[in-house]
Amino acid sequence: MKIDFLTLFPEMFEVLNHSIMKRAQDKGIVQFNAVNFRDYAGNKHHQVDDYPYGGGQGMVLKPEPIFNALDALDKTDKTRIILMCPQGKPFTQKVAESLAEESHLVFICGHYEGYDERIREHLVTDELSIGDYVLTGGELAAITMTDAIVRLIPESIKEESHKDDSFSTGLLEHPQYTRPADFNGMKVPDVLVSGNHKNIEKWRHEMRLKRTYERRPDLLETYPLTDSDYKYIES
Ligand code: ADE
Repeated sequence: MKIDFLTLFPEMFEVLNHSIMKRAQDKGIVQFNAVNFRDYAGNKHHQVDDYPYGGGQGMVLKPEPIFNALDALDKTDKTRIILMCPQGKPFTQKVAESLAEESHLVFICGHYEGYDERIREHLVTDELSIGDYVLTGGELAAITMTDAIVRLIPESIKEESHKDDSFSTGLLEHPQYTRPADFNGMKVPDVLVSGNHKNIEKWRHEMRLKRTYERRPDLLETYPLTDSDYKYIES
């Protein structure tokens, strides 16, 4: 997979040169490329923003730098061109799973009050938001999405590692414990040290349901609850 970032702050993407994102690059699973779209402003002062027509607060990103920077990229008709903005569709694990199957993504990261609407209308294939809050720019959102997407590409991490992830199953993840079995009197639940795998899976499923019911009941609206599931969330 190739991921291009159109940004005014290419250095911010240095964080992707660590840990699993670095390993994914080293293994050739993904290639990152941060492009400063100021280099494509096409005017003497490299101006990338301007006052809004009709007046109002803040500046608006001009269309030329984004159109020109995108023109210079090697694209296919399958390239997904994704605009980072708080008005976008919510970025979820499902969206991450679907983007992990693509071969080329371009993230457009703005740093101003808004984008000239022609960017939205004529360039982008998707508009995505990481949550209902406003960041100073799209870079941290693009980095967050990249991390969530790239870890799902086969061979990035072991597939079993994300099979039980919160959200992948439609439920939050069950509690985890490691050694020691007794830490200063705080004990690991007996079932987990019993070696009975059927009971362990039953307990984990119960915990996933209870945790989801307590913390994110909204997720249960779309989860296919069975008759026996109800007894764990009604008590
Ligand atoms: N840019 C500013 N805020 C954002 C958000 N919540 N998601 C994506 N991009 C953004």
